[in-house]
Amino acid sequence: MFAALTPQPADPLLALIGLFQSDPRPNKIDLGVGVYRDEAGHTPVLRAVKAAERVLWETQDTKSYVAPEGDRVFLDRLWQLVAGEGRFAVAGVQTPGGSGALRLAADLLKVSGVQRIWLGLPTWPNHNGIFNAAGLPIESYRLFDRDTQALLFDETMAALNRADAGDAVLLHACCHNPTGARLNAAQWGEIADVLARRGLVPLIDLAYQGLGEGIEADAAGLRRVIAAVPEALVAVSGSKSFGLYRERTGAIFAVGRSQAEADAARSNLVSLARASYSMPPDHGAAIVSTILGDATLKQQWSDELDEMRARLAGIRRALAEGLRDSWQPAAAIAGQDGLFSLLPLTEAQVLDLRERHGIYMPASGRINIAGLKTSQVADAVAAFAALRR
Ligand code: LMR
Repeated sequence: MFAALTPQPADPLLALIGLFQSDPRPNKIDLGVGVYRDEAGHTPVLRAVKAAERVLWETQDTKSYVAPEGDRVFLDRLWQLVAGEGRFAVAGVQTPGGSGALRLAADLLKVSGVQRIWLGLPTWPNHNGIFNAAGLPIESYRLFDRDTQALLFDETMAALNRADAGDAVLLHACCHNPTGARLNAAQWGEIADVLARRGLVPLIDLAYQGLGEGIEADAAGLRRVIAAVPEALVAVSGSKSFGLYRERTGAIFAVGRSQAEADAARSNLVSLARASYSMPPDHGAAIVSTILGDATLKQQWSDELDEMRARLAGIRRALAEGLRDSWQPAAAIAGQDGLFSLLPLTEAQVLDLRERHGIYMPASGRINIAGLKTSQVADAVAAFAALRR
């Protein structure tokens, strides 16, 4: 049976982790998979997370199952972080990470009879993988031009105006992966209006809240959209915002026209999850709930996000400054958000950077800004600049 299987290629992003680890060069630079790193090149456990784990260690008195939808206290606190003061008919399900949330959302769209989902390209490659696996046809449009670093808003609006009523639309809430491109408030407003006018269903991927402009600002566009449309899905990841990558922390929220409809969506999400992984992991969710439920821990977490954002902004400025002589559009990197920017490199150039300079990134030319230490920016700039001469 297994002999008949075609071996599948490793996920290119995840494969980079192993390639980087086996490179013996001491000055190698990992700009691959999207995890935050500090100036020492380390992905630390946040201090607020450690403190919450201490609380859990002392107070948690069972490891019995959580409810099929997860812990409602966690879901309520997380939703408040996402939606702020807005009042919505909403129901959530705790999931294994943001990917788990996206997969449940895709399965729900499929069983709801949605015909296709629109993706602005480039996007996180696993969006394609998840929607394909769920059997949800993908329609795509151009969202970003990497040579000019321009967000293609007109093409985005044209695509949304072409979509059929009932189609789903994937949106990145903030810190666009892989481009870092940011929609301004007016553009979010226009997107919200066209979604509402044309009866499109947004699936909003919120994986980096707090790593762009700030905890509140990063959710502002999303809030504008869910206030405008009758139905929406919001997939939340705790991986980056709380540094809980391996704990697989996330949730999917269904916003409906009424609480009864949102609850109906939840019952379907729970049933889809039951037939897949049954029940969500809880440790990461318990940490997030503990942090969000305690004013001191929440402040500490917010301060840590400030530190991360400041470091990312500093690297972005240095990179934009350094690259501008050899590539004028690099100036845009300073104004982009989150972990990623997308460089206009060919696959051969990406390979050349890896082989000659020990600089690792996926073939798309996406770089993880947090992979650079301040002391490495000059070397990286020199290597990029040399490619363009
Ligand atoms: C990334 O894009 O690098 C991250 O979201 C990690 C992943 O799972 O791909």
